[in-house]
Amino acid sequence: MTTLTQRPEWTDLIKHKETLPPLKDLHNSHTISDQGILLDYSKNAVTKKTINKLINLAKACNLEAWRTKMFSGEKINNTESRAVLHTALRAPKDADFTVDNENVMPFVHDTLQRMKDLSEKIRGEGQITDVVNIGVGGSDLGAHMVCKALKHLADGPKAHFVSNIDGAHINQKLEALNPKTTLFLIASKSFTTQETISNAHAARKWFLETCSEDKIKDHFIALSCNTKEVIEFGISEDNMLPFKDWVGGRHSLWSPIGLIICIHLGFQRFQELLSGAHAMDQHFQEAPLEKNIPIILALIGIWHRNFWNAESMAILPYAQNLNRFPAFLQQLDMESNGKSVTRDGSKIDYNTGPIVFGQAGVNGQHAFYQLIHQGTSLIPSDFILFKEPYNGCKSAHHKLLANGLAQADVLMNGQTLEAANNDPHRVFEGNIPSNTLVFDALTPFTLGQLIAIYEHKIFVQGIIWDLNSYDQPGVELGKSLANDILNNGPKTPLHKYALSKI
Ligand code: F6P
Repeated sequence: MTTLTQRPEWTDLIKHKETLPPLKDLHNSHTISDQGILLDYSKNAVTKKTINKLINLAKACNLEAWRTKMFSGEKINNTESRAVLHTALRAPKDADFTVDNENVMPFVHDTLQRMKDLSEKIRGEGQITDVVNIGVGGSDLGAHMVCKALKHLADGPKAHFVSNIDGAHINQKLEALNPKTTLFLIASKSFTTQETISNAHAARKWFLETCSEDKIKDHFIALSCNTKEVIEFGISEDNMLPFKDWVGGRHSLWSPIGLIICIHLGFQRFQELLSGAHAMDQHFQEAPLEKNIPIILALIGIWHRNFWNAESMAILPYAQNLNRFPAFLQQLDMESNGKSVTRDGSKIDYNTGPIVFGQAGVNGQHAFYQLIHQGTSLIPSDFILFKEPYNGCKSAHHKLLANGLAQADVLMNGQTLEAANNDPHRVFEGNIPSNTLVFDALTPFTLGQLIAIYEHKIFVQGIIWDLNSYDQPGVELGKSLANDILNNGPKTPLHKYALSKI
């Protein structure tokens, strides 16, 4: 079988790269506009010929056929023999998504109806003032990010998130809460994750210090695929919102894992979030490759990762409420494509998933931009901007946007020694690439679009790298060793020293 680096399209790109002038001399104008989104990818060392060659590589990797497989419910998560159908969760009722010849849409929309009824009941009754989502990884990051991103629209019970097994995390939350008005969502696809179950037991113990066992049913809801473990924990099936195994953990905010979004923000806003993601699903399926936002972002990422050897990339949302978006994308990208064997288990001889980091602008400018501008690592960035202020302050938003736009320009254009008054410390080499995504406003719909853009970008990169982007074997070994140390004691002098106070 032809591996990626043996493909003629790959070697063609290597040769092509040598023909290109520096980025700042290209004076590109590369944009895609669709669904109220502008992607400006001019600040990349790519010409139209480069893009065409990258598209040829994607075609050689059968990208479109794989896209069809994903949407048709084929089990593309080959190591777990599962379909990858988070897109079904945001599709309309009459959509056709099947797994094992069964149309999943009735189950999806029955579940949505249950989420709607439950969240509206909780919000309407007014008994619950605080909702605590106990979960980790995909059972925390996505819903957490959405609740923070849209907190300017929150009109329901307060949303809290507990993920770390460090007792400080849950204790600092519980000490401020009233058990009589607190609802716990135990969010765990497997319902066997040690951190989550440990925190769930701590919450249950805290609750039973003041409330009776018969009240558990009114204050604990399980969000999981594992009914057996939920019942064993002590939550009845009636108090469980199930979802299917074809929803990956890091793609689960659209599932019952998103219940806290419905309670905190209202089901209508959750529906708008789903609609935005569905709109982007349609764009991803229908837009021509050269006008396809997730595909172009993916190909530019491949260009930087594999032909410029960029080890990392920065996610720079210029919106304080999106401060958790980079953390969400870390799992979405690094847990999907942080792999070194192909789908069939063959060793890989090329770069795969990048190190993803970032924080809201302008804060990052006062933290790591120095390195991006003048360091020795090439770090491509994605700037994410919103034309309208969501914070109600136009002048502050003007400053925010001016900073984001300026940073991207300086990264590309740099500053010469002459312009730096011959001070070598103030020379900026420039030629540092970035993409800029501009949305009209930060709304549930545009947030849904934004998340789906990156879900599909990561899918495209995984296909080109010939990876299974939907399992996570790399997180299992550490967990089992931790259990071994917990159950059988320290193994090394360092273990003994560090555990000496326990
Ligand atoms: O990080 C490993 C992982 O399995 C993630 O993929 C998942 O989102 C997280 O742990 C939590 O898993 P669960 O939802 O089963 O508790």
